[in-house]
Amino acid sequence: MPLVITKNFGHENSRAIEVYREHGGYETLKKALEMGPGAVINEVKNSGLRGRGGAGFPTGVKWTFLDTKSGNPIYFCVNADESEPGTFKDRHIMNNDPHLLLEGIIISCFAVGSHKAFVYCRGEFHRQIEFMWKAVEEATAAGFIGKNILGSGFDIDIVIHKGAGAYICGEETGLLSSLEGNKGQPRIKPPFPAIKGLYDCPTVVNNVETICAVPWIIENGADAYKAMGTERSPGTKVFCVSGPVKNPNFFEVELGYPLIDLINKEAGGLRDGVELKACIPGGSSMPILTPEEVAVAKMDYEALNAMGTFLGSGGIVVIPKTMSIVSLLRNIANFYAHESCGQCTPCREGSGWVAKILQNIDAGRGRHGDIELLHDLCDNMRGWAHKFHPIQPWLKKDEGMGGGKTICVFSDALAWPVQSYLIKFRHEFEEAIAKANPSAAVPADISESRSVAAAH
Ligand SMILES: Cc1cc2nc3c(=O)[nH]c(=O)nc-3n(C[C@H](O)[C@H](O)[C@H](O)COP(=O)(O)O)c2cc1C
Repeated sequence: MPLVITKNFGHENSRAIEVYREHGGYETLKKALEMGPGAVINEVKNSGLRGRGGAGFPTGVKWTFLDTKSGNPIYFCVNADESEPGTFKDRHIMNNDPHLLLEGIIISCFAVGSHKAFVYCRGEFHRQIEFMWKAVEEATAAGFIGKNILGSGFDIDIVIHKGAGAYICGEETGLLSSLEGNKGQPRIKPPFPAIKGLYDCPTVVNNVETICAVPWIIENGADAYKAMGTERSPGTKVFCVSGPVKNPNFFEVELGYPLIDLINKEAGGLRDGVELKACIPGGSSMPILTPEEVAVAKMDYEALNAMGTFLGSGGIVVIPKTMSIVSLLRNIANFYAHESCGQCTPCREGSGWVAKILQNIDAGRGRHGDIELLHDLCDNMRGWAHKFHPIQPWLKKDEGMGGGKTICVFSDALAWPVQSYLIKFRHEFEEAIAKANPSAAVPADISESRSVAAAH
């Protein structure tokens, strides 16, 4: 399988423009400028490339939604916020190959008719921001950024913007608010950014990894890209594997790759003496998988959705037997309670309650009824609470990802893991609560397991 995203990572001094060019860098830009915008968009559309920021939306299709008739400038924003716990791919792309990202941005801007691009970097990415600025300087000096690039008549300016380190600024409309200098708070959609985005102008927001696939697609063609991965999830993906494995790292493989092989082959397997308890497949927002599910899971959008979870941003976190699921979930919930932007009541209040209840259970102060209370809270945090997926009650039947009660899916992104952990590892929560209440009998009305309710 050819590497699409990480192909230059091993080269000495890979960040330098000369090294990038020695390996064919910026040649695809010349080809794209000759092809013309429409042909570039078509190639990306035909490749089936899907957004790597989490939602998996088809990239070429998103570009065609842009309001090109408004007369307003079109802005191109690259999402380099990468705050989802368990995910660490975009920072390595900027560490190793900043010019690949720049070439991807220039080609994409040319395709959609944008002359101004912003790379919104997570505030903590000090080194990456430096590398990106240096790359912009080099590419400007070489004539790839600026006015009339390569004599094509096309102008492009790229700004590297430093965020202040808030998870919610990774949500695309939160990112746009922050970029405008306002609080990083998401906006109601519609209107979608393609119609009213940055400064109320048509805007594309794409993830770093998504944009880095564009040069390869233009160089090799949509068919070559589609030859990798699965029919509906084509291409390659950079997965991050962390936890007690021998070689925690990021790995580029074809979509549809078996999760167990990512853990055992790519990441070298579990450390000696470690046994697998569970695995988070796509970052901390995603429903958890049991070892039985890990054994059969395929890492593509459809296969994971069918198991009631999501590919997300590709952050695989391996959970060892010795780790308490209650403590793990408490930790995750604390993060979300801290990061909620506070605009929507279900999210602001719900995430705080969930975190407090889990903190109590974990600290030996749990009460009978807490599990049901957590479920009830999560039902109110998720969109479409009342129709349950027959197997995975945190998904609405046939509708996949949620949203609906709040401006963005942040609150769903906490409710999904909470409910999946409660259902799949209920015994751990029950044991912690029973320990805190050694002499108390469980009242009949709250003893019924939610996993039974899940079968509705
Ligand atoms: C709470 C929250 C955090 C997000 N964080 C990121 C992020 O750090 N990076 C990212 O690319 N997308 C993130 N997203 C997804 C973006 O909203 C958006 O879908 C994505 O940037 C679009 O790019 P893509 O189509 O290339 O995936 C986040 C979404 C939510 C709801």
